[in-house]
Formats: sequence, structure tokens, C-alpha cells
Amino acid sequence: WGKTGHRATGAIAEQYLNKKARKAIAQLLDGESLALVSTYADDIKSDTLYRAYGPQHYVNVPFDKTYDTHPHSEKGDIIQAIDHCIATLKSDTATKEEKAFQLRLLVHFIGDLHQPLHTGISEDKGGNDFQVRWYRDGTNLHRVWDSQMIESYGMSYSELAMNMPQLSKKERKTMASGTHRDWLEDSRIVVKDIYANTTVGQKLGYRYMYDYFDVLKGQLQKGGVRLAALLNEVLG
Ligand code: ADE
Ligand code: ZN
Ligand code: ZN
Repeated sequence: WGKTGHRATGAIAEQYLNKKARKAIAQLLDGESLALVSTYADDIKSDTLYRAYGPQHYVNVPFDKTYDTHPHSEKGDIIQAIDHCIATLKSDTATKEEKAFQLRLLVHFIGDLHQPLHTGISEDKGGNDFQVRWYRDGTNLHRVWDSQMIESYGMSYSELAMNMPQLSKKERKTMASGTHRDWLEDSRIVVKDIYANTTVGQKLGYRYMYDYFDVLKGQLQKGGVRLAALLNEVLG
């Protein structure tokens, strides 16, 4: 996601933290919000020190395979990155600085795991090489989903977070069940549907928003609800 998508994910998660997790997070982040730190992993991307983190924002799996039956990338991927974030946060020996760093990354990676094009195929680099038009402008499918649909909706991240469908406690529990490996397969169902309904060079606009913006919002909501559940389990 772009900044708004990540911040909305963080803001949604804030609503569902338990007391203990909220306190542990406030301590690790020196009072900064999850929404604020959610974009940190992108902010450091251009720094050569953190080059190796690039492939950790996504995972590519052929549509006819699953993550566990496909050889994992040696450069790392979003699933391995999330494993590492969780292990560091649970560790008895990691320093506060290491935990704070991995927490910032975790907030971001759980967001990206729910951007369907971050769980796409390597052939077109997760839609980065899938050229389309967004209204009159030339762009690619990845960017449409990262930011252009969200921008055209015209809401701030906090407005987006506040305008999600209401969920009962039971619905949230169902939504957050499983692990990040299950959440990946869930996102892959969405990306397969997107590929089944989008062609190279297609002009996307009002109709695409009508067909897919609720899907996008649902992905943001799942990201926030699942991030909160994971943080409650790891830090709560
Ligand atoms: N960003 C850069 N390369 C990517 C890929 N292969 N899949 C998803 N997102 C990407
Ligand atoms: Zn992206
Ligand atoms: Zn990212």
C-alpha cells in the first residue's frame, strides 16, 4: 500500500488492542501511534543500508501453487520477514531498539500482506509490469491498488479507518483466525480474482471502483483486525 493504506491499517488495529499490548507498544514506540510508524519500512527503503529489505514487502507464488509447495525466495519474502518480526518481539534477549525496529516493520508487512498485488506473480513483478490506464493516465495495476483507488476515494486514513463495516466480536475473531500463512492464501484468492477480471491496457475508473473498492476496503479492515490480534497475542 501507499501511505494512506498503511496508516488506515494501523489506525484500525489501534481500535482493537488489549490493555497489555497497548502498553507494551506505547513503551516500545515511545508513544508513537501504529498509524505513524506504519510507513517506516518504506521510508528506509531508499537507504542503501536497508536494500536487502526490498523483497520482504511481498511474495510471489504461481497461481497454481501454494506458498508451502513453492520454493521460497532466498532473498527473503514477506512471510519470512513476518516470522522474524514475531520471533524478535517474543525474544527474551533482543534489546528494546531491536524490538521497536521489528515492531515498526511488522505493522507495515501485515499491511502489505493484505495488498493483493503484493501476493501476486513474479512474471509481471506483482503487477508493476502490468500496464493499464487509471482514467486518462497511464499507470500499472500495482500502483492502482497501492494508492490510486484509495486516492480517488478521497478520504484521509482516519476517515477510512472510521468508515469500515461494523464487525461483532465474533466476526473479528473469525477474521483473525489462523496465521499469516493463512492470511496470505486469503489475499491470493483476491489477486487471482483481480487477474481473472483485468486485461493489459484496460481503462480502469468509475466502474472498477464500483466493482472493487469494497474489496479493497475489506482488505484494509482484515489487515487492521489481524494486526491487532497478532499484537495482542505476541505482546498482550
Ligand atoms: N514490488 C517490486 N517487485 C515486486 C514483486 N515481484 N511483487 C510484488 N511487489 C513488488
Ligand atoms: Zn506496493
Ligand atoms: Zn511496503
